Amino acid sequence: MDRFLTADDLAKSLRNDVYEGLTGTPKTLPPKWFYDERGSALFEEITKLEEYYPTRREREILVARAAAVAEATGARTLLELGAGSGEKTRLLLDALAGTLRTYVPVDVSGDFLEEAAAGIAADHPGLDVRPVVADHERHLHLLPGGERRLVAFLGGTIGNMPPAERVGFLGGVRATMSGGDFLLLGADLVKDAGRLVRAYDDAAGVTAEFNRNVLRVINAELDADFDPDAFQHRAVWDGAEEWIEMRLRSVRDQEVRVGGLDLAVSFAAGEEMRTEISAKFRRDRLEAELGAAGMEIAEFWTDADGDFSLTLARPTG
Ligand code: SAH
Ligand code: AVI
Repeated sequence: MDRFLTADDLAKSLRNDVYEGLTGTPKTLPPKWFYDERGSALFEEITKLEEYYPTRREREILVARAAAVAEATGARTLLELGAGSGEKTRLLLDALAGTLRTYVPVDVSGDFLEEAAAGIAADHPGLDVRPVVADHERHLHLLPGGERRLVAFLGGTIGNMPPAERVGFLGGVRATMSGGDFLLLGADLVKDAGRLVRAYDDAAGVTAEFNRNVLRVINAELDADFDPDAFQHRAVWDGAEEWIEMRLRSVRDQEVRVGGLDLAVSFAAGEEMRTEISAKFRRDRLEAELGAAGMEIAEFWTDADGDFSLTLARPTG
């Protein structure tokens, strides 16, 4: 497995993010740190929840459209960013079997990635499966090239980036593409606020555990003493920004020590720390953001209920 992120890089980057996030006002933490082994497993559990529709809807689109993706792209290499378990990707791998030679799943969560990639390699003996541990916000230029590449970014993870980062990210993806390459982008769509909030605040409390997992990661990696039970999960729809915000609310006045940063952080009772945004899109916005990055929409598909979208984009011109 290729590692553009050594354990040391990861530790440095976590330190940096946690320091910036906990000393800022308001306090924030970036969502990429949810995903240690436990966090990745919790995310997989989320994808099976009744309230969490995105995974099911995106799978529905892939079932209907994977053959069209294969036909349009004739991809030889599939590079998947934030691949996670790669479960839905199997639909693409099967549809692309005639042309595909190499599958490169990319993720920050190394152990989980290794296991998922091994499972896929075992089921696709002729396929060259080359997992890469990398941060797609920083290492796009280091990822393998090749002719007729399909870059897949599924699940709606694009929505976890703030708008300014999204623009830079899409521009970075475009910069790695040549004529004949495509981007397959999964994006969740704007819908009824009640459904959105339920999807991010499920009755069984799995998303709450996923949210608090970032505190456990910081405890383990940075010798901190967060009490996860002293933080309440919140999911809030911001109708102006059209995103869901996940927050952790301090249930009391408390001081947390982060030994690895030699830092003490005070939380007031009721203070909320943002841990994730999950932006929801309309076709227009996707078109505009892809356009600004030098790409155009070749195909735009949704599920039958119009909940989730899958866009096939190519370099403009
Ligand atoms: N694509 C899968 C998983 C989505 S969960 C699906 O559609 O179900 C988001 C995944 O992105 C996690 O596996 C997480 O570890 C990974 N991830 C989050 N931020 C990342 C980053 N900056 N670089 C690489 N991987 C990242
Ligand atoms: C990975 N990402 C697209 C998920 C989302 O829906 O924004 C992460 C998640 N957060 C809470 N539930 C799922």
